[in-house]
Amino acid sequence: MNIPKEKIEEVRERANIVQVISEYLPLTKRGQNHLGLCPFHSEKTPSFTVSETKGIYYCFGCNATGNVITFLMKRDGMSFPDAVKTLARRYGVSIPEVQRSGPDPRDLLFQALRASMEYFLRELKGPGGGEAREYIRRRGFDGEIAQRFNLGYAPDVWEGLTGFLRKKGIADEASLSSGVVIKKEKGVYDRFRGRVVFPITDVRGRIVGFGGRSINGKDPKYLNSPESQVFKKGETLYGFYQAKQQMASAGAIFVEGYFDLLALHKHGFTNAVATMGTALTKEHLRLVKGHTNLVYALFDSDAAGRNASIRALDIAIDEEMDLRAVILKGGKDPDEFLVKFGAEAMREAIAKAEPLMEFFLKDLGARLDLKTPAGKRKYLDSVVPMLTRIRNVAERGHYAAFVATVLNIPQESVYEALKIPRGTAEKPVKGAMEAREAVDMKGARLSELTVVKVVARHPELLSDAVSVAMESFSDPVLKKAGAIIAGSILRSKPLDASSLMDEADDEPTRILIAGLLIKDDDGFIEDPARMLEDSLKRVMNRGNIKETTMRMIERLEEMGRTEVASDIRKRMGTGAKRQP
Ligand code: CTP
Ligand code: MN
Repeated sequence: MNIPKEKIEEVRERANIVQVISEYLPLTKRGQNHLGLCPFHSEKTPSFTVSETKGIYYCFGCNATGNVITFLMKRDGMSFPDAVKTLARRYGVSIPEVQRSGPDPRDLLFQALRASMEYFLRELKGPGGGEAREYIRRRGFDGEIAQRFNLGYAPDVWEGLTGFLRKKGIADEASLSSGVVIKKEKGVYDRFRGRVVFPITDVRGRIVGFGGRSINGKDPKYLNSPESQVFKKGETLYGFYQAKQQMASAGAIFVEGYFDLLALHKHGFTNAVATMGTALTKEHLRLVKGHTNLVYALFDSDAAGRNASIRALDIAIDEEMDLRAVILKGGKDPDEFLVKFGAEAMREAIAKAEPLMEFFLKDLGARLDLKTPAGKRKYLDSVVPMLTRIRNVAERGHYAAFVATVLNIPQESVYEALKIPRGTAEKPVKGAMEAREAVDMKGARLSELTVVKVVARHPELLSDAVSVAMESFSDPVLKKAGAIIAGSILRSKPLDASSLMDEADDEPTRILIAGLLIKDDDGFIEDPARMLEDSLKRVMNRGNIKETTMRMIERLEEMGRTEVASDIRKRMGTGAKRQP
């Protein structure tokens, strides 16, 4: 798919980056920029900075950077053209349909899946759907909820969907690879038979598979689409598309089952998603991470549930998510709990949820005899591996103190076991320090940085002399950034920060450009022209740079560009022109 360049530019111009990003995370205005918690790494103090006027974002914690298009690409896993098209639709930019270079093979699967849903919906409404409608009604999910989640019905026949898809002109091959039909010796047949069907969507609402609940007692109780090019169970959350808006303010509620999810939504917990029976994975957490850091997991209170919660804790620590365990007493699963006790009881259970780490530390304590040295040792042996993985010192300290209290031993002993000196600095996110240094660097490269910075803020000050000086920069990243910025200014003033993000093709350069453009310190340059002069002088008078510059001046003179040459001489403070 080729989108005309000017259309891409139009989209970049029209799309409001603050508006778009605000739908994923709350942003607060701070000076000229907007600030929020970075969706690309875990943090508790906001360092994710969005500039509305410049159209870019930059995270001072993890260096994530880009414009409104790259945000959608990274956040929702969209391709470049898809991100552009989504924004174009939203901001009313019409893009002429051009021939694709080649069709996305997944489109055929999406088509087959979409058509399958039509069939299931039709069958539920149709004359043969009575039993299924009655089942859904009995479970309490008829009406609005059934519609919101597009519940359907697969009648107990062998070639219902198969025939429907063929009539729609969908090739057996696509139906097969989407998993809705199965191959047998001669021909194909429907995978789902005699089941209420739950369409499973991806983050963008496209159907990727189905879950089917048997309504006639036939085994297995649940049947799911097989994994395919578009469906990976461990990376998919049922209901995510419907829940994602709600998560930023309320956190995410994780349940296991399809009906559990429907029950929560029905009772107003529209921030719930379901793992469809699989154990929690880091991909599950990463899906919600851009929206919230807080996850309530509704685990069963039995041994299996406890083991599942410990595995979940393991993953949550690494993902630096605040995972809380919700224990539902007296109800087998969230669906049954809500039927029995209602929404208010659920709200209370959620409000009482404690961090899973605390739950784990208490629960373990209750299962060991902590009065004996052996019990204490066992306890410490189990918790130390967990605690050492907590990256945040404050949090780690909190739990170390907790453990000390539970074991009734001095805190020092816990730290000793952790082999971490007290007050050790938090391990910085990889790369962050380097980037901060790049933006705040001192010494030699500072003057190079200043040149780029001043020019970026005051494009009218760009001159041939500046371009030449940039050529002689010693720092390769600054050199590249300078060239990109200068090039962009020459093409069009004022500087278009957002499109620069697409031009810089390597990460360090992008980070540098974003970092220096987004810094909210315009006021510090009182006399930009003077500042540029000074920095240029320092840049060009530095050791071998000076030689390079002199050679360059000579070359410029040879080329007859004496004006530029003498301008540079002036700036270097070596006013006198050498006699040839
Ligand atoms: N599951 C599955 N395949 C199975 C069993 C379970 O995919 N063979 C998934 C389904 O997503 C199911 C969830 O695991 O919703 C929880 O399973 P279970 O507790 O057995 O079922 P419930 O959701 O309670 O189903 P119901 O209330 O209809 O009995
Ligand atoms: Mn159930």
